[in-house]
Amino acid sequence: MIDIAFVKPALPRHGALVLPLAEEAPLSGLAQALDTAAAGGVTRGLEAAGFRGRKGQSCTLWAPVGEHGPARVVAIGLGKPGEWTTEAIEAAGGAALSLIQAEREAVVAAEGLGAGFAASFALGLVLRGYRFDRYRTTEKEEDKPKLEKVALAADAATAARAAWGPMRAVAEGVFLSRDLVSEPPNVLTPAVFAERCKPLEKLGLGVEILGPKEMRKLGFGALLGVAQGSENEPRMVVMQWHGAAARGKKAASPPVAFLGKGVTFDTGGISLKPAAGMEDMKWDMAGAGTVVGLMAALAGRKARVDAIGIVGLVENMPGSNAQRPGDVVTTASGQTVEVINTDAEGRLVLADVMHYCQERFAPRCMVDLATLTGAIIIALGHEHAGMFCNNDELAQQLAAAGREVAEPVWRMPLGDAYDKQLKSDIADMKNVGGRPGGSITAAQFLQRFVQKRDPATPWAHLDIAGTAWSSKDLPTIPKGATAFGVRLLDRLVADHYEG
Ligand code: BES
Ligand code: MN
Ligand code: ZN
Repeated sequence: MIDIAFVKPALPRHGALVLPLAEEAPLSGLAQALDTAAAGGVTRGLEAAGFRGRKGQSCTLWAPVGEHGPARVVAIGLGKPGEWTTEAIEAAGGAALSLIQAEREAVVAAEGLGAGFAASFALGLVLRGYRFDRYRTTEKEEDKPKLEKVALAADAATAARAAWGPMRAVAEGVFLSRDLVSEPPNVLTPAVFAERCKPLEKLGLGVEILGPKEMRKLGFGALLGVAQGSENEPRMVVMQWHGAAARGKKAASPPVAFLGKGVTFDTGGISLKPAAGMEDMKWDMAGAGTVVGLMAALAGRKARVDAIGIVGLVENMPGSNAQRPGDVVTTASGQTVEVINTDAEGRLVLADVMHYCQERFAPRCMVDLATLTGAIIIALGHEHAGMFCNNDELAQQLAAAGREVAEPVWRMPLGDAYDKQLKSDIADMKNVGGRPGGSITAAQFLQRFVQKRDPATPWAHLDIAGTAWSSKDLPTIPKGATAFGVRLLDRLVADHYEG
């Protein structure tokens, strides 16, 4: 991760100088000093380039001061100050990153931004700087990004530093999540994924790993049914963060719980998927990747909350012992499922994990994340995750948190009429409900594993099949794994479940 520091304004003598500039505003502070050194060349250069500071505009000037100044000056338009939003400032930071990556060091003239926006600019910049390059061995030195250190010259450096602390922890969580999701499926088997959770203990998290033996004892017939077609054994990881006691109260209220679908590769099983695009199914563990990243973020910023993260890890393969369409499995809850389509495996994994979570922790609310259905991409594209929720308050909290961090969710309906589509002739339910409302019937299936506990456990399901991966660069997300949900759920906790 790029190193961020908040410093007193001073002109850099090499690397990049970034000027975040408001629309039609005169240069201020550092920028003016630079312009003076360049004898008005910066103002002139920006004018000549037609740069007005409009949102989305950018302009690079090369060595405007000659040999005693920065190698490049990058102006980033912020638009009118009255219209600044966190999202826009983060995007500006992201845009800056893509223009300065070839330099080793950069200074950002962030004096005009105020502490909060200066930190947001840093966050956007850092998030856009993510790269997964473990498996590149032949890339030329000159093509590699070099940026290591960015100093933000801010008026309120102390306040900006304080704002940055927790943001940095969240960025670490986002990176961990992106790393897990980007890993190829031959490397990241369920066992390896689980091992990658172990180091989180250093952050103060409790990490337990359960294997097939333990899961058999717990009666995880649904999860184990999916796993049985693969040589690679399943795992479940239970992560616990106890941060509420820090606020003085003795862990009085039950924890919040986050659950993730972790199918490290989804071939579809015996209901085999077509070849085209099947490689995308390496990120069918993105729900689990998000939960792990989220737990790292919460622990990293010492969130004042008790939180549980549980991931169900399996590989869905068509091995000789694979489950068949027509099999009936008994879930940990005791309910039986007729497996009509072995490709509807995520809900089978989550059914057992959800039941386990409620039995053991009786959480105050439970949010699951899963790349559950292709149908959610048809419904919402890549712009919103689908949200299904049995509780209006939780739904509103999630929708608001999503808007704040630009990870938007769109609420979808639940209802008895949809639930009827799951009726089986020989078991309590079947695992698919037909094509109409495919994402909804998947959610109905999950809801059958929400305990009624009078009232029912407040529960939300986020179908992130359309948002877990991006096929193009976005303002603060390079093409690839997005870590969608880490920032959203971190914000949910910060806004409603802490202090
Ligand atoms: N992992 C897939 C869902 C998916 C599809 C995610 C495309 C991302 C992109 C899931 O396990 C699946 O296969 N779902 C089936 C359900 C169907 C068999 C009822 C689907 O969406 O086709
Ligand atoms: Mn599937
Ligand atoms: Zn799947």
